[in-house]
Amino acid sequence: MFSVRMRSSFHGKHVSGAERICKREDIRDTVYELLTRPDNYDYISVKIERVEVKEIEKALPIKTYTFEKVEEAREFAIGMLEKEGIKASILKKLFMELDTGASPDGGNMRGAMIVDIGSGERLEPDKRRGIRTVKVDWSSRKFITDLLLEKGYTLRTVDALAIATKNIHCGVVAEVCWSDDPDYTTGYIASKNLGYIRISPLKRKGSPYVGRIYFVNRGEKDRVITCLEKEAFLIRSL
Ligand code: COA
Ligand code: AMP
Repeated sequence: MFSVRMRSSFHGKHVSGAERICKREDIRDTVYELLTRPDNYDYISVKIERVEVKEIEKALPIKTYTFEKVEEAREFAIGMLEKEGIKASILKKLFMELDTGASPDGGNMRGAMIVDIGSGERLEPDKRRGIRTVKVDWSSRKFITDLLLEKGYTLRTVDALAIATKNIHCGVVAEVCWSDDPDYTTGYIASKNLGYIRISPLKRKGSPYVGRIYFVNRGEKDRVITCLEKEAFLIRSL
C-alpha cells in the first residue's frame, strides 16, 4: 500500500492538507482527487510513500454535545478530561496557550503539542512544529464517508475521527482539538474511555488559533511519536 499526502500553501501560509492510503493501481486517481481539493494556493506538494499497513478494527464511538457558550463547553470538556486523570489547572493553562498561539513565535503550531499527562509539561521536541499524525485512512473511505454524512456529520469528522482513532491506538491517553477555521467552532476531545466527543462551541467564532494537544505518559513519549509518524493504519469500521 502507499501513503499519498498532499499539502498546499499560499504566500507561505498552510492552506490545506489531506492524506489517503491506497493500492498502487489507485495512486493516479488518488493524486488527482487530492490535487483538486484546495482551490487557492501558489504551492502544492504530493508525497507518495510505500507503507506496511496494519488494521484497526473499530473507530472510536462518536458523541456530540452542544452548548450556548464557549465557557460552558470548555467546562464540560475539562470535567470529562479530569476523569482521565488530567488536572483542570493544566487544561486551563494549555487552553490559554492555544488561544493565543501555541508556537513560541505567537502563531499556530504545524502539528500537535505532546504533553505529559502528570505534570502538564510540553514534551514535543520542536515547539513550533509539534507532532503530526500521518499514515492513517479508512479501509473503505467512501462507505464510511457516506455513512457519516448520512448521520449528519461533516467531511471534517471523517478525517478527524480517523486521526483521533489512530492517536488513541498509538497510546495517546487523551486528545483535545479545535480547528483553525475562524467559522468552525466545533472541536473534540477523545480517549479510549470517552470515545470521540464532538463539542460545540469549543473555540470562539472568528479566532484564527488552532489547538491540538496529545496527552501521553512521559515514559511512552518516544514510542507514541514513532507510532504516530511512522506506522500506517487502515481503520475498518465505525
Ligand atoms: N499545518 C501547517 N503546516 C503544515 C502542515 C499542517 N497541518 N502539514 C504540513 N505543513 C508544512 C510544514 O511546514 C511542513 O514542514 P515541517 O515538517 O517542518 O513542519 C511542510 O509543510 C512539509 O510537510 P510534509 O512533510 O509534506 O507533511 P507530512 O508528510 O507530515 O503530511 C499532512 C502532513 C499534510 C498529511 C497533514 O498535515 C494533514 O493535513 N493531514 C490531514 C489532516 C486532516 O485531515 N485534517 C482535517 C481533520 S482534523
Ligand atoms: P486542522 O484540523 O487542520 O484545522 O488543524 C488543527 C490543529 O491540528 C493545528 O494545530 C494543526 O497544526 C494540527 N494538525 C494538522 N494536521 C495535523 C496532523 N496530521 N497531526 C497532528 N496535528 C495536526
